[in-house]
Amino acid sequence: MDQAQKLRDIIGETAPEVSDSRIITISSGKGGVGKTNFTVNLGIALAKQGKRVSIIDADLGLANVDVLFGIVTKYNLSNVIKGEISVQDCIVKGPHDINIISGGSGIMDLIDLDNNQLDKLIHTLSYFNTISDYILIDTGAGLSKSVLSFVEAASDVVLIITPDPTSITDAYALIKNIANDEEKKIKLIINRVESNEEGDEVYNKLEQAVTKFLGRELENLGYIFEDANLKRSVRKQIPLLEAYPRAIASKGIENIAYNLINNHKYAKNNTSFRMFLNKLMNKI
Ligand SMILES: Nc1ncnc2c1ncn2[C@@H]1O[C@H](COP(=O)(O)OP(=O)(O)O)[C@@H](O)[C@H]1O
Ligand SMILES: [Mg+2]
Repeated sequence: MDQAQKLRDIIGETAPEVSDSRIITISSGKGGVGKTNFTVNLGIALAKQGKRVSIIDADLGLANVDVLFGIVTKYNLSNVIKGEISVQDCIVKGPHDINIISGGSGIMDLIDLDNNQLDKLIHTLSYFNTISDYILIDTGAGLSKSVLSFVEAASDVVLIITPDPTSITDAYALIKNIANDEEKKIKLIINRVESNEEGDEVYNKLEQAVTKFLGRELENLGYIFEDANLKRSVRKQIPLLEAYPRAIASKGIENIAYNLINNHKYAKNNTSFRMFLNKLMNKI
C-alpha cells in the first residue's frame, strides 16, 4: 500500500463526529522573543475558556515548555515513533488538564522516517487530534527543514516579534518563506511593547512591507506589554497566567486567546487537522 492510500485510510478512521482540532504553530525569526512563554500561557488562556489543549514542544535547540511548567517529561515523541512507548505515555498533564508533549528528536528526524515510523507518527498525531480542540506547536526560531514542514503544514501560523528592528527583519524573512501558500493565515503578535502606539507602529511597518512586496495579508492578533512579572514567573517555574493572572502581560495574552477563538478569519475550521496531515505527508 502506498503512503497516500495509508494516509487516506487512517484519516478515514477518524470518526466524523470527532471534530478536528485547530493546529497553531508558534514561530519567530529569531530566538528569545517570548515564543515559549507565549505558547504556554496561550495554552492556559484557551484551557480557561474550556478548550482542550495540547502543546507540542518542537524546539530542537532549546526545548523548554516543560521547564516553564515546572514539570519533567521523561519521554518524547521519538520514543513513540520508534515504538518504545505508547502515545499515552509521552503525554504529561499540566494545569487545567493541558497535555504537554515533548517533541525530542522525533521532530528532528521527521525527514528520515521509514514507513513504519511514519505510520506511528500519523497515528500519534491523529490521537492528539481526538483529545484536543487546540494543538499548539512551539517550533523554535528560524527555518530548520523539519520545523519548516510543520509551519508549512499548519493552517494557522502565529509569528512573534518584538519591536527590535532585527526581530522585524528576521520575521519578514520567515514570512517570505511561507508566503506562497495562499490558504495559510499568517498572524502577528508583538511582544514586549511599551505602549499600544508602539505596537501599532511596528505592525504597520511590517504589514506594509508584507502587503507591498509579498502580496499577503498579515493579521494583527494583538500586543503583549513588557512586564517584569514574566521574568518572575519564569524563575518560579509557574506560567504567568497562573502566577500573575492580573499582570498586564497576562491581560494581553488573554486578549489574544479571545481573538484567536472569536475573531479569526478562518474559513475551513473543520478540515484543519486533515489538511495539516495531508500537507505534512507531502513535505516529508
Ligand atoms: N512580555 C515580556 N516582558 C518581559 N520580559 C519578557 C517578555 N516576553 C519575554 N520576556 C523575556 O524573554 C525571555 C525569553 O522568553 P522565551 O519565551 O523563552 O523566548 P523564546 O521561546 O522565543 O526563545 C523570558 O525568559 C523573559 O525574560
Ligand atoms: Mg523557546
